[in-house]
Amino acid sequence: MGFRTIEELCAELDVKRKSALAGGGEEAAEKQKSKGKGSARERIAALLDAGSFVEIDEFVTHRCSNFGLEERKPLGDGVVTGWGTIGGRKVFIYSQDFTVFGGSLGEKHADKICKVIDMAIQNGCPVIGINDSGGARIQEGTDSLNGYGKIFRRNTMASGVIPQFSVIMGPTAGGAVYSPALTDYIFMVDKEAIMHITGPEVIRAVTGELVTSEELGGAETHNTITGDAHFFAKDEAECFEQVKKVLSYLPLNNLDDAPLKATNDDPRRADLALREIVPVNPNKSYDVHEVIKRVVDDGEFVEVQAGFAKNIVTGYASIGSRPIGIVANNPDVSAGCLDINASDKASRFVRHCDAFNLPIVTFVDVPGYLPGKDQEYGGIIRKGAKLLYAYSEASVPLISVIMRKAYGGAYLAMSSKSLGADVVLAWPQAEIAVMGAEGAASIVFKKEIEGADDPSAKRLEKIDEYREAFANPYRAAERGYVDRVIMPEETRKVVCQALDAMESKRETRPAKKHGVIPH
Ligand code: HXC
Repeated sequence: MGFRTIEELCAELDVKRKSALAGGGEEAAEKQKSKGKGSARERIAALLDAGSFVEIDEFVTHRCSNFGLEERKPLGDGVVTGWGTIGGRKVFIYSQDFTVFGGSLGEKHADKICKVIDMAIQNGCPVIGINDSGGARIQEGTDSLNGYGKIFRRNTMASGVIPQFSVIMGPTAGGAVYSPALTDYIFMVDKEAIMHITGPEVIRAVTGELVTSEELGGAETHNTITGDAHFFAKDEAECFEQVKKVLSYLPLNNLDDAPLKATNDDPRRADLALREIVPVNPNKSYDVHEVIKRVVDDGEFVEVQAGFAKNIVTGYASIGSRPIGIVANNPDVSAGCLDINASDKASRFVRHCDAFNLPIVTFVDVPGYLPGKDQEYGGIIRKGAKLLYAYSEASVPLISVIMRKAYGGAYLAMSSKSLGADVVLAWPQAEIAVMGAEGAASIVFKKEIEGADDPSAKRLEKIDEYREAFANPYRAAERGYVDRVIMPEETRKVVCQALDAMESKRETRPAKKHGVIPH
């Protein structure tokens, strides 16, 4: 009997470390590789700065004694956790290891994830979860469900405090999808990521519908149809680049400001092409991306939810080195109208920017709400209200640029003065009115038009009369609903001046526990 030597003790540690690194073994690792998927640790290494990852809890094991699991206790329990840096900034991370019980989530696996989320909240740093999992670990029963519940609660507590990103690189089934859905962003890798509540077999048994896993919950589906995902990547490498890019526009937590972005782009740069890009004729369309790219620093725009509700565009850019969020109607798609999906997409982005202290610049060219039974039955009233709520609630600097149409309720919803916009700018062709000239003239001059010898000529005359009198920015400017009417080419300079002026904006609000946002 005696003490073992330090060499023996270190050798033992070394063996344990190697065992933890082995995960689910060679065969499972080969299977993962053969599908073109990275391992849990390779993924962390690809995302974080080289050599920055520090792993914790590598010796954690489950304590389940059902269905033979007591004989299989892989070190680490199927998830790799710890911290590191991205671009020199600290992040906390977890990455599920599919080679261990299919990355399924049991009690201790969940505890490891909860620990890094807690650390991220306490230290005010983003948390990134790489998901690749068969869902609840079936052998662990309610312990596994309890684990999910604890993660959901932490995601909710962290919401608006630290950025939370979910990177989906494998299956995510059942209630397991709800942790990602509670985070800021879901990044999905094409042909690898699957998210659904009930899978194709259950759907076939219950409703008789036939659908493939990919159709039901693949990256394409969630980035275009459901809007549940925010970024689509063709492979893992592209996905990690997206994560890094988005992170570079965000502060580490809600008490910080986002880091400035170095640029040589002159903040006073004028761009005469803006006069041509947006046609004066309100019936002609154009791609609002062209406007955004010409106004922001170096033309760099990082779009969020690029494939969903394309009639509104959301994303990050910087102006005068200052990171901002951008919301813009896109006349190229459905004339840039507001509908259910556009309202959902924009309101969530506005709240995200507000939570993380990013000023919001809104480019307005909106004809109104999309008419239709589908829209009314689908809840456009509450969805539209959500956008009103999001802008009204936002206390970050709000700058609006009314480029052309701004009609009715949609004008109000798109960051209007009355909802709290700090600086509202309008271009000379802006039309700020209750509705377009055609509709307005037909109603206001109905009797005159109907009683005319040539009603259609009279109608055109009255439309022109109305347009001349009201379809311009000056009525709104007379009332102070527009702060400045500017030349299109001055937009970058003037927005930059407005952002400078609003830099120290502070607003106090009535004390409350929280509001009740329309959903
Ligand atoms: C325990 C699991 C598991 C799970 C997979 N495995 N899912 N073990 N619990 N949920 C194990 C498999 O038994 C297998 O172990 C290994 O992981 C690899 O799985 P394969 O099936 O060989 O891999 P693959 O063919 O790629 O299929 C992956 C899969 C499939 C599509 C994820 O495994 C699958 O359908 N799993 C079940 C998914 C599921 O129904 N989960 C519960 C969802 S409900 P061996 O030892 O053979 O290598 C849920 C509720 C959450 O999650 C509620 C939260 C509120």
